[in-house]
Amino acid sequence: MLATLRIDPQSPGPAISPWLFGHFLENLGACLYRGGLLDAAGRPRDEIVRRMREMGVPILRWPGGLFADGYHWRDGVGSNRPVRPNKYWGRYGPLLGPKDPNLFGTHEFVALCRDLGAEPYININLGSGTPREAADWVAYCNQTRGPEAEQRARNGATDPLGVRVWGIGNETYGFWSIGHCDAKTYAGRYREFHAAMSEADASITPVAVGTCDLWPEWNPVVLGEVGERMAYLALHVYLPSMNNPLYLARPIGGGAANHASLCAAGVEVARKIRFVAAQIRDAGLAGRVRIALDEWNLWWWVLQTYKTWWRMRDAVALAGMAGAIVEHAEVVGMANLAQAINVLGLIRADASRVVVTPLWHVMRMFAAALRGERLAVTPIGPTFSTRKLGAIPPTGAIPTVEAWAARDGDAIGAVVAQRRWHGPVRVRVDAPGVRWTSIEILSAPHPDLRNDFAHPEAVRALERPWDGDEIELPAACVARLAGVMAPPGPSS
Ligand code: AHR
Ligand code: AHR
Repeated sequence: MLATLRIDPQSPGPAISPWLFGHFLENLGACLYRGGLLDAAGRPRDEIVRRMREMGVPILRWPGGLFADGYHWRDGVGSNRPVRPNKYWGRYGPLLGPKDPNLFGTHEFVALCRDLGAEPYININLGSGTPREAADWVAYCNQTRGPEAEQRARNGATDPLGVRVWGIGNETYGFWSIGHCDAKTYAGRYREFHAAMSEADASITPVAVGTCDLWPEWNPVVLGEVGERMAYLALHVYLPSMNNPLYLARPIGGGAANHASLCAAGVEVARKIRFVAAQIRDAGLAGRVRIALDEWNLWWWVLQTYKTWWRMRDAVALAGMAGAIVEHAEVVGMANLAQAINVLGLIRADASRVVVTPLWHVMRMFAAALRGERLAVTPIGPTFSTRKLGAIPPTGAIPTVEAWAARDGDAIGAVVAQRRWHGPVRVRVDAPGVRWTSIEILSAPHPDLRNDFAHPEAVRALERPWDGDEIELPAACVARLAGVMAPPGPSS
């Protein structure tokens, strides 16, 4: 089987925000405590921090998620840290909703961000907090003087913590959230929170709660009422989605048909982004409000919420979703994969061991390759059509081999997804003027394989020098190409 990828390096498209490859931490399941990010003393574990740094974390969201609407930030600063019940996730029991010892609070979060080179993104408590509490949090982080700044100095930080990005609410449209209300009520509360927070720091970058198909009237109301007061409208996308009861009870089995359907997840991500982008346009806010896809991932089984082992085939599906985000770089300014550790997690850990999943590799590859300006890529070759799977509709004409590419000065990067369940594909990369220098291939002997503590490299990425224009890609793999714009040689 043969496929061609035509990449045009001469006419770069929109700038790709580095924030498209962001991440997310929440006190849910084993993300932070009980074998997650933190050791018993509440310190970030070196091995996990190293893996996050290696992957690249341009922006990091915390403390939620749904948890944020039950979180009171003063519990997590200073020397007196109360142990609190997990107000949101506790309803599902201690596995999903571990108590919060508040060891990881604002200072610890910002320190981790600095360590990773990540932009801190804090989601305030709109559901059970007050505008005053949120404004004080902004003041505590960002003001140089005043009572909050003095408090911060007493807690060891004389300089402002410099948190620019602030989310105001989380999934407030959903009956399951703390503080759930209708769009009009949310807009009114957003206005109050935003006013108080802006008084503390007029330069904040606010993110408002947005949604998609299930509540089509939400975004128009929120954009109409407070669209001028936001930089981003949030959108959460999980596919094929936990909402289908069929998937709550059991994992999706392996097999080529399910794999094919999961490969259509990117098409569904793209449709949702375009749906929200059209609403932003209709509100007259194109170019002023951008989409923050501040939670996205695969998700179909309730136990994945606690801990997940992702497989090679999930990496192939995720590449399509990340690719869809890149394809909409003109309207999507930020995206945060949910979540970094254990919970739907890229990094899998228990109290003493850490292993990276195939999805960790995909996020690392995208962050490394898709820098600068997007390049148009045309896939030419075989396609397939898929059956409905949960919230992923039946889809036709999915390229068997697809790629996303970018140009950063003279550096060219691309990520390629080879979606065949069985058998290789010979891929011709037609990119005039580009000299490829290396290729990295993430693959496994079988697409259903995963990494676990006993087999940390069952799925692995191998990089080698490469300067050709044709390559044989094994079944169900994700590849990263690196190259440079070559000066025209004497013979060309
Ligand atoms: O990422 C897990 C949860 O999924 C988040 O807390 C919530 O916002 C979403 O429903
Ligand atoms: O309780 C978590 C919620 O359940 C998620 O936000 C939603 O996607 C699911 O229905």
